[in-house]
Amino acid sequence: MESTNHLSRIPLHINGVLTHQNTIRSTASGASYNELFTTLLHNACRALALDTAYAQKILHCDFPRAKITAHSVVELYQETDRVVEVCDEARRRLVFMEWSGNSKEFAARLKEDISVRAEMCRESLLISLSEPSDPRAILRMFHYRHEIRATIQHMNIILGLDPEPVGGDVEKHATALNKEFDAGGWMYQATDLHSMRDLFSLLRLKSNISFYDLGSGYGHPIFYGANLREDLNFTGIELMPARVDACNQVAGKLRLSNVSFQLGDVTKRDISEADVVFLFNPFPPSVKREVAQKLCSLARTKPIVVLDYDGLVTDGSNEFRRMDKGQAVPFHVYGSRKYFDDSISLAGISAKK
Ligand SMILES: C[S@@+](CC[C@H](N)C(=O)[O-])C[C@H]1O[C@@H](n2cnc3c(N)ncnc32)[C@H](O)[C@@H]1O
Repeated sequence: MESTNHLSRIPLHINGVLTHQNTIRSTASGASYNELFTTLLHNACRALALDTAYAQKILHCDFPRAKITAHSVVELYQETDRVVEVCDEARRRLVFMEWSGNSKEFAARLKEDISVRAEMCRESLLISLSEPSDPRAILRMFHYRHEIRATIQHMNIILGLDPEPVGGDVEKHATALNKEFDAGGWMYQATDLHSMRDLFSLLRLKSNISFYDLGSGYGHPIFYGANLREDLNFTGIELMPARVDACNQVAGKLRLSNVSFQLGDVTKRDISEADVVFLFNPFPPSVKREVAQKLCSLARTKPIVVLDYDGLVTDGSNEFRRMDKGQAVPFHVYGSRKYFDDSISLAGISAKK
């Protein structure tokens, strides 16, 4: 993410929407656009029991931005949230402005103006995230400080990852591979940040276990987990070379010594080291069946836990027992049946009813 892109976009917003407004007057009260805008923002602050200084910040586009550190990150998110909340409240109040006799166009301009400022504030946060002082510490704050409402886009900025959009981008990968996997096997979507937070806080994985992500994409669950848990080993297996390269670069940059990314087809790779296997919607149906068989064979030899998003790989298999705790965890959790107690306790969940 180029911070200069954001920086140069902000003045464009201002030129496009925020100038020339001073000349407009409200049809109902005769107040100028700026007078009415100021009142609107002040009222919104009061309604939210926030300092009216936020109104001034929004008026002057003075949004929180700082070199982001583990200490400043919570405050930065909170400040951003407050500005955006004031903008949302002001937008809600605009409805009344129309009712009280102002023209539709007047209200529409104000609405656009407020939306642009809220967007600028969000962009300001992204700029701060693009120069983190300590990416690993900030990523940990995403996990431990629930008041931070970070998204996968924020995680990408922190890690310097630039994945293609959800669904994948054929152009980004070698044509030969696209042909080979034209069943859509290369399709991409990252596990969301919220699910990763739940996963690594609800499953208290025991030390020294080996966590495998089959179809690891751009490595989000692996980076998230490995950064939190240096006592575990993380392996990602991924079909697409560009994704594996990107992961190796991030692993080097973060100096993570407990991760490894392997390029290859999961059906052909050795996964016998795995204790916990993570699957986020990775495969087309035919591959799923093959991987399911592979997991069943592994489950006959040792206790394993499978965390399966759509529940298809392990469903109906006698080798696995499903934990009905799935309500709390965003993934289906299965233990290998013969070793049920052992396998589930790997994941820190008691098998006792
Ligand atoms: C939905 S993405 C999930 C990425 C990652 N696990 C996550 O949760 O963020 C699925 C990934 O599986 C990969 N994939 C599909 N078939 C595969 C196979 N047979 N072997 C290895 N990777 C595969 C795709 O290329 C894609 O990157």
